[in-house]
Amino acid sequence: MRIALIGTGNVGRALAKAWAAAGHDVVLGSRTPGTKEDLAKELGVPVIGIVEAAEHGEAVVNVTPGAESIATLRTAGAGALTDKLLIDIAVGFTEEPPPHGMALSHLTFSLGEEIQSTFPEARVVKTLSTMDSVVMTSPDSLEGPSTVFLSGNDPAAKTQTATLLTDLGWPSSSHLDLGPIETARGQEHFAHLFMGIAASQGTYGFNVRVVLPKAE
Ligand SMILES: NC(=O)c1ccc[n+]([C@@H]2O[C@H](COP(=O)([O-])OP(=O)(O)OC[C@H]3O[C@@H](n4cnc5c(N)ncnc54)[C@H](OP(=O)(O)O)[C@@H]3O)[C@@H](O)[C@H]2O)c1
Repeated sequence: MRIALIGTGNVGRALAKAWAAAGHDVVLGSRTPGTKEDLAKELGVPVIGIVEAAEHGEAVVNVTPGAESIATLRTAGAGALTDKLLIDIAVGFTEEPPPHGMALSHLTFSLGEEIQSTFPEARVVKTLSTMDSVVMTSPDSLEGPSTVFLSGNDPAAKTQTATLLTDLGWPSSSHLDLGPIETARGQEHFAHLFMGIAASQGTYGFNVRVVLPKAE
């Protein structure tokens, strides 16, 4: 599949490498592609402008800072996102004074919903936002199986996303479809618990697993 990752940070780099290794036609979309030649060489993935990247991708993946995602995706042009699978992994933060240090930018709704309502012709799926970038591309680095969540309104878009998750090493048994895009709130608001677990365990390299009751 032609995949365009918008954002060249930790998550964009990790996913670009992993999906390219799985045989996909990957590009990274950057605000400043001219300054990213070394990165393109290092990853073996072209780094191009956001407009060109969005046009290239059958799937467009938002890996920009969540509080800036709407503005950044607008620069791609709504037309380039029409009918596209738009995978959203971002979480928006604002800085707060200690002891918290950060708060969510989307408190009463989610960025996933805002992206879907801003780009109604795109098929938005929120996923992977509840774990660290290293775990996103190496679920086998954990002690046992864990859970990756999906939220979105379009069943076909979720099926395409599930295939891309499988290509990262997430077996279908690890996918949990939470329902429509409104359920992205849960994924994003998990960020506070994520930070608490990370602080208590001294690592970001963990994930959660949904455990169901034993069958009667
Ligand atoms: N890091 C993780 O493990 C993790 C886990 C779960 C979710 N997330 C979420 O995934 C998203 C990406 O995380 P990340 O760690 O890759 O972030 P990051 O390292 O800060 O990279 C974000 C990238 O977005 C691009 N960008 C576009 N508009 C921007 C703006 N206005 N200001 C700054 N950068 C802008 C930049 O690439 P260019 O300069 O090339 O345009 C930047 O490198 C975030 O929303 C984060 O909350 C991250």
